[in-house]
Amino acid sequence: MSSKIFVTRIIPAPGLMLLREHFSHLDLWTADLPPSRAELIARAHGAEGLLCLLTEKVDGELMDAIGSQLKVISSMSVGVDHIDVSAATARRIPVGNTPGVLTDATADQTFALLLAAARRLAEGERYLRAGKWVTWSPSLLLGADLADATLGLVGFGRIGQAVAKRAQGFDLRVLYHSPSAKSAYNAQPVDLNTLLRESDFVSIHVPLNAQTSRLVNADFLSQMKPNAVLVNTARGGVLDQTALYHALKSNRIFAAALDVTDPEPLPMDSPLLELENCLIVPHLGSASKKTRDLMSLLAAQNLVAGLKGERLPHCFNPQVYQ
Ligand code: NAP
Ligand code: GLV
Repeated sequence: MSSKIFVTRIIPAPGLMLLREHFSHLDLWTADLPPSRAELIARAHGAEGLLCLLTEKVDGELMDAIGSQLKVISSMSVGVDHIDVSAATARRIPVGNTPGVLTDATADQTFALLLAAARRLAEGERYLRAGKWVTWSPSLLLGADLADATLGLVGFGRIGQAVAKRAQGFDLRVLYHSPSAKSAYNAQPVDLNTLLRESDFVSIHVPLNAQTSRLVNADFLSQMKPNAVLVNTARGGVLDQTALYHALKSNRIFAAALDVTDPEPLPMDSPLLELENCLIVPHLGSASKKTRDLMSLLAAQNLVAGLKGERLPHCFNPQVYQ
């Protein structure tokens, strides 16, 4: 196809190869850092297809700047909070995303963070590297047990359920709070207050939108148990970081582990970085080789389908087809 497409970063080979097979006018942003807004507007202008990452803000203004020939927006992510989907729908532009292929990797990451925060692994490693380890001690860096504890999942979609599946192997009782009831992995639906009151581990798996923005605020944290561990692999915007700082600093809750922050990257002067009981990693939920290959392939398949005028394999706004 001779359609111009703009891809905002070098994506893994499977997706890139598929794009090269289909498009002679593939414009690829090759820098390590994402394009600035001005660079994005300039380079994407005239494109019929845009393949972006979660680092690009794609709003109506950008869509209009690209031009009315824009036929499809495909993001190499499952979350689409960086895209104004309503603006795309109003312009009848399908928005593609990459659900499913990253579910296991993100659930694995959630469990890795949960265990690491519960057993103070990052703190322990800092302690060792600082040369503070002088002997085995009965009371050194004591953490929390998983067996027979309660895990509360806020959001019980693909990733929430994959976390519940893993929790079974650790003998955790699982509660969830999510709009639609689902029966999976012996997880029990409860209201949010009950979940916060009863859970030793609370893990967030909701999309970021107007309803979930700052859902984890001072009130939410005040309802958690003092021994509780909070894990967030959803989006930084779901959480009020100032409220979390105060809850951790005052030992109102035991620990937190964050895969995502707001903003990203987290500024190095963030007070959260002063806390021993806050583990933070740089948005690595889907960061396995196989998963990123599959995400890039699915993002490319969505783009190709959109430019052929076919239904996207994974379309976030299927209303555009009505
Ligand atoms: P999903 O299958 O759509 O699951 C989201 C779940 O959240 C749904 O069950 C939904 O309920 C529920 N929900 C929506 N609003 C809620 C609310 N206010 N309170 C409680 N539950 C609510 O999505 P997913 O594939 O599991 O992904 C979830 C999110 O994880 C993504 O949107 C993305 O932001 C994030 N993510 C992060 C990484 C990472 O690298 N850290 C990787 C992948 C995904 P219904 O089913 O009733 O609609
Ligand atoms: C990652 O955060 C994603 O939404 O795919």
